[in-house]
This record gives sequence, C-alpha cells and structure tokens, in this order.
Amino acid sequence: MKRKTLTQYLVEQQRSANALHAELRLLIEIVSRACKTISHSVSKGALGGVLGSLESENVQGEVQKKLDVISNEVLLEANEWGGHLAAMASEEMETIHLIPNRYPKGEYLLLFDPLDGSSNIDVNVSIGTIFSVLKAPASASGRDINESDFLQPGRTQVAAGYAIYGPQTMLVLTIGQGVVGFTLDREMGSWVLTHENLIIPEDTKELAVNMSNMRHWAPPMKRYVQECLDGTSGERDKNFNMRWIASMVADVHRLITRGGIFMYPWDDREPNKPGKLRLMYEANPMSMLVEQAGGMATNGTSRILDIEPHALHERVSVMLGSKNEVARVTQYHLDAAT
Ligand code: AHG
Ligand code: MN
Ligand code: MN
Repeated sequence: MKRKTLTQYLVEQQRSANALHAELRLLIEIVSRACKTISHSVSKGALGGVLGSLESENVQGEVQKKLDVISNEVLLEANEWGGHLAAMASEEMETIHLIPNRYPKGEYLLLFDPLDGSSNIDVNVSIGTIFSVLKAPASASGRDINESDFLQPGRTQVAAGYAIYGPQTMLVLTIGQGVVGFTLDREMGSWVLTHENLIIPEDTKELAVNMSNMRHWAPPMKRYVQECLDGTSGERDKNFNMRWIASMVADVHRLITRGGIFMYPWDDREPNKPGKLRLMYEANPMSMLVEQAGGMATNGTSRILDIEPHALHERVSVMLGSKNEVARVTQYHLDAAT
C-alpha cells in the first residue's frame, strides 16, 4: 500500500472545501521539519553532547537543559524566514520573538514548548515538542505584534500538534478537521501518514496522574482518584490501571491512541498557582487535539479552550482525555464549588 506523506496530506487539505491556507501549510511543513532536526539531536544523546543541564534558568525559574535551549533555537531559526509568521512565543523565552525586519511577515502566531518532558531527557524516556498556532488579530495589522496579541482563548487556535521522540518519532496534528498521526521514516526523511483518524474512546480504565502529590490536592480530586483506586470494591465497581511518564506529550499520546484520563491538578504547595502546566504552550494545544479526537479537556470547572488568558506564561490545572471520566472529575469539582 502506498501511504501519503505529510506534504500530500496538507496539499489535499488545501484543495478541499475547507481549504487550508497556503501560509498555514508552509508553517506546518516548517515546524515538522524543525521537529525532524530536534528528533535527530535527541537520538544522538551522549554522542551528540546534548544531555545535561546548563547554568541558566528559564523565565519560570526552571533549570534549562541543553536540549531545551537547542530545540528552542531550532524552532526559532526554522520559522523566522518563511514569511508566514508575525511573531513567536516559547516556554523558554521571557517575552515574544518578533520576526526580524530583514524577513517578510505573515499573519500567524506560533507558540511552542520546544522540549516537553525535560526531566526524561537524560534517562532516555520519551519526550516531545508541542505547538499551537493562532492568527494575529486584525487590529495588529500595520504595527508590531505585542504580547497581548497572543492572549487569545484556545478555541481560536487554527492548528495544534506535537512531535513525540519515542521508540518511533511521530507527529500528531490537527487543523480543526480531526486528528491525524504521521510516523517519521528515517531512511526517506519524510513524515508518513500512519494514523488517519485518531479517536479517544469515551470510556477508559486508565489514569495518568502524579500520585506523589495526592496529599496536596483539593477534596474533589482526592475523591475522584480514591474512587478509581478502590476498584471493584468501591463506588466505581471497576478496576483502574495507572501510568505516569512525566512527559505530557507521551502521556497524552497514550490516551490519544487508546484512551485514558490525564490530570495535573492544582495543589496546595503553591496555592496561588492554578497548576503546573502552561496554558498557552501545553494545555491549549493538547486540549484542541483532545477535543478534535472526541475527548474533553477542563481545568476542573471550565472548558480549557474557553479560558481567557491574562499572561503568556500563565499556568492552569489540567484534566483531559476520555469524555466520561473528564466529565465525572469535573462534576466532582463543580459539586464541591456549590
Ligand atoms: P517541561 O519539561 O516542558 O517543563 O514539562 C514537564 C511537565 C509535563 O510534561 C509533565 O506532565 C509534568 O511536567 C511532569 O511533572 P512532575 O515531574 O511534577 O510529575
Ligand atoms: Mn512541557
Ligand atoms: Mn519544555
């Protein structure tokens, strides 16, 4: 069977009724090419001198790994010159990155978590890159983009995706027409369409959550997880399985492939922080993918894609995946709030 490449898929989408804009197509091609480069560095590991940390910290006070910085540079350089972007923003940069004046500018805004799952780099566990695409607001035409132009709710994203650097390197993408997956054919150097229509089953018996934080959670979170742990001897009357990779990309990839619920909730260690994960670089793109695959994504009480962001590096509590489980844990939070 002759399989489609990413380029063929995108050209077909461009020609179809819901025509994909040519600049957006170029953007996706360029991001996917950058992910190939990152994948190559990741796979070299110690041989490429890419493991370990730097002296620096990012804007969120996290120690930067060499690969965080390398991946950020690869994405910036790849996307600067194409003429498709107005500006970029990254988890690893304090403020937005404008397109240098020597290059033409386009109408899209690109946001990324260049290397997700940093704590797994040095231990050879799956990591990834997450990206989100917005349109620059019409009011920005004729002037420089500023940070507030990025502060749009996730439902306005025109595309989102991730690359996962695991046993296989894959690219999982949505342009608002469902979710598709491509596998990197290393010999040919091309992304090949291997997963045509990824759907998350509504029910699941698998949860992903960092249980070591349980004592810090709010009562509705504790209630939901405790009921799962009780299995057939409790309220739920079914046994659950648990997985926690600590790379959101890998945990989300598993639930996009076979269902599951992923949670990184608020906890009382830093009560003023809504959560650990970042709204613009992690929660929004993953929520668009999950909804496009038939799942659900909330912060415990509201749909993530409807949250009005107030800051580029804003954090959020995240519960996403199989619809019926996300609806249940959300209901527990709503019940507790009334
Ligand atoms: P990043 O490496 O981009 O900072 O993201 C790490 C995130 C996410 O990928 C993962 O789900 C979570 O942090 C793991 O956190 P814990 O180590 O607290 O479990
Ligand atoms: Mn991340
Ligand atoms: Mn990261």
